Amino acid sequence: MIAVASSVVQTVVFEGQKPGTSGLRKAVTVFQQEHYTENFIQAILDAVGKDLAGSTLVVGGDGRFYGKAVVSKIIRIAAANGVGKLLVGQNGILSTPAVSTIIRKYKTLGGIVLTASHNPGGPNGDFGIKYNCENGGPAPDAVTNKIFEITKTIKQYKTIPEVPIDIDKIQTVTLQVDGRSFTVEIIDSVKDYVDLMKEIFDFSSIKKKLLGSPERPAFEVLINSMNGVTGPYVKDIFEKELGVKNLNLINTTPLEDFGGLHPDPNLTYAEDLVNAVKNGPFDFGAAFDGDGDRNMIIGKKAFFVTPSDSLAVLANNLKVIPYFQKTGVRGYARSMPTGAAVDRVATKTGINCFQVPTGWKYFGNLMDAGRLSLCGEESFGTGSDHIREKDGIWAALAWLSVVASLGKSVEEILMDHWRIYGRNFFTRYDYENCNAESANKMIKEVEDKIESPQFIGRILSSQNKEYVVKEADNYSYKDPVDNSVADKQGLRILFEDGSRIIYRLSGTGSSGATIRVYIESYESDPSTFTEDAQKVLKPLVEIALQLSKLKEYTGREAPTVIT
Ligand code: G1P
Ligand code: ZN
Repeated sequence: MIAVASSVVQTVVFEGQKPGTSGLRKAVTVFQQEHYTENFIQAILDAVGKDLAGSTLVVGGDGRFYGKAVVSKIIRIAAANGVGKLLVGQNGILSTPAVSTIIRKYKTLGGIVLTASHNPGGPNGDFGIKYNCENGGPAPDAVTNKIFEITKTIKQYKTIPEVPIDIDKIQTVTLQVDGRSFTVEIIDSVKDYVDLMKEIFDFSSIKKKLLGSPERPAFEVLINSMNGVTGPYVKDIFEKELGVKNLNLINTTPLEDFGGLHPDPNLTYAEDLVNAVKNGPFDFGAAFDGDGDRNMIIGKKAFFVTPSDSLAVLANNLKVIPYFQKTGVRGYARSMPTGAAVDRVATKTGINCFQVPTGWKYFGNLMDAGRLSLCGEESFGTGSDHIREKDGIWAALAWLSVVASLGKSVEEILMDHWRIYGRNFFTRYDYENCNAESANKMIKEVEDKIESPQFIGRILSSQNKEYVVKEADNYSYKDPVDNSVADKQGLRILFEDGSRIIYRLSGTGSSGATIRVYIESYESDPSTFTEDAQKVLKPLVEIALQLSKLKEYTGREAPTVIT
């Protein structure tokens, strides 16, 4: 057995190591600065503090450039800080949902996820580091704030000399570090996650649906992993278990730069999938992001299911999934900007529905307290209390379960849903990489306007449509479980008829500011259901742009992404 001694390295403080909506995300070149990454890892371990000695942590990421180098840094720093064991995904690969699964299954202290999610990768792309706690979920604000505080005064970190451990090979290596034993177990990246999916879903009924029978045509699916981490998971689940032809599984080799793709499953960046399904024989299409927690679902001819609708439809049909037959449905939740379609399902079924700030970390407490079964965000995140992260492949399997059980097309399922509940039209405009100062000024402009007492009751109009302001605020959330408060979570303008305009700045960007404008309106008249959402929402969009003077502040004529 190799025996090594730890040593202390003097370091300097780096500004701005504040975790955002989902961990610390910066350009790769920022992480590559000497000591930068080490500081942050040491800060995570210090924040975890007293529980660290002899603990087990999970380590893995989406396979992006610089990931393997960081795994090796984590091994050395964890060893020197008294961690007992690391469970490392083979090749450094673990999807974000897989990390959550493994933390929970093996009851580890937590895990370190190496991902910048859907941000582009490669030497000129982004990198990210995120800490997940023992419940398998992203660290709550209290922990990330502590990490940030530590980064502001850090003077040194502990490490051990480089020890050659081949992380591409499944094996267990034990070292003696300062006389203590330290183990690195390189584990299969896929198995634990696939086992969990098999427990949750009825694979045989999904398979029957996909393969068809002499009486029923096959249900053709097209899955696009966007060269992100989900490829190996998709191949095991869809090809090996569900019998989908290899040809229908696209971009399933994780690449360090995602093959130049922007691995974000939406109508803009997953255009390939949209076009292939539009022009091909497919009944169903799904794409996932770089680290596998986001999903986009489309039906035949690329019929688009908004994530807000997806959440509502799954809520309405959850009982077809064996997992929920066992656990029952304890509650629903959505992030504040997410369309309120799920609220209507909750009201009808008498199940509680929570509204949390943007970011998956806000769902964790509710799930741990047994008050939440299904939740989602408009940003293509859907998931349940099976783990504590959103889960792209889970969402696709949930949809296939619903499709198999109802025997209807995706479009028919949506039309049925709207006939019962009405339709919440939803769109989000993103203005990426704006000048940060101008973006802040714009937010301030809106904030000042909506804070004025005269704003309530005001009528805002555009294109012969009038909206009466019912409520307006900067969203503040009090967690019903631990009473912690998260304020300034986005500017909300709520209208009498249930329509909404929301403005917030992204917390995941690595440079500049991204402004997000969320627009929603509700229609109960069936003749509107097939209308184009952009057309229906146009008047509200115009109001949102005028009110904020967005064009004046940012100089942008149009958003970079519309979803
Ligand atoms: C974005 C999404 C948010 C999601 C997060 C991580 O954060 O809007 O819903 O939880 O990515 O995937 P934002 O950039 O808006 O802060
Ligand atoms: Zn992601």
